[in-house]
Amino acid sequence: MEIFKQITPLKAFLRDLKCHGKSIGLVPTMGALHEGHITLIKASKARNQVTVSSIFVNPIQFNNPNDLIKYPRTLEKDRKLLESVGCDVLFNPSDEEMYPKESVLKLDFGHLDKTMEGAFRPGHFSGVGLVVSKLFNIVEPDHAYFGQKDWQQFAIIKKLTEELNFNTVLHSVATLREPDGLALSSRNLRLSASERQTATVFYKALLRAKDALQQGKTAGEVKPQVREFVEHSPEARLDYFELVDSKNLNAIENVQQSTTPIMCIAGYVGEVRLIDNMFLD
Ligand code: PAF
Repeated sequence: MEIFKQITPLKAFLRDLKCHGKSIGLVPTMGALHEGHITLIKASKARNQVTVSSIFVNPIQFNNPNDLIKYPRTLEKDRKLLESVGCDVLFNPSDEEMYPKESVLKLDFGHLDKTMEGAFRPGHFSGVGLVVSKLFNIVEPDHAYFGQKDWQQFAIIKKLTEELNFNTVLHSVATLREPDGLALSSRNLRLSASERQTATVFYKALLRAKDALQQGKTAGEVKPQVREFVEHSPEARLDYFELVDSKNLNAIENVQQSTTPIMCIAGYVGEVRLIDNMFLD
């Protein structure tokens, strides 16, 4: 695996491959890699001749400084894991390489970044949009792969790609779960043993909500039940539970109002913020 810390040599390396007609897949990550990321690498390898993965803990997408400090960093382990699954290129820039000057550009995605994560993490999606734009400009990928767990992020990157005419096909890859249902996430590394047990509460809440909504209950009826269920556990706190149309993230009251409704949930277990979602089919 080729490892690049700087933009210019990476661009030169990729330009050469592109000249030889190779298709490039990009898997952007913030490291602390788990099986979910590996699924994205495998999806990219199945379709592209060259797979690039980036590991960059993007400071401007963290609205909470403590969250940035505590974000897990396991670079050596990540490098070995990427190598073992045949990733071709690792791009691991420093903060200074990505942001040589203080970044002043702010992105506004309208309704898409005012709801759910956007409402609870002001500025988060502007930071995500900016770093993904930079990565798309640097790598110029033919395909890019993201996890379905971050569905709102995917909807926003789709908008970004359309509005800025990036020549990249986006793929959302199904969430991987532990046997007890917990969605794989780099943040799970920060959970204590008892918090780890509690963390399944969001998945369980989604299953219960799915049942209730499919039996005809409205989102308005289900929301307080989800809060009660999650917060019954003393270590857990709910930020939001929303039923939305997965295409435009508009809130809906019942499952008939969208052809592709999705439930999104977020909250804390101890100090660790977790998110999850589930489509209703
Ligand atoms: O989903 C993530 O890991 C990050 O938000 C991303 C897309 C790599 C941008 O920093």
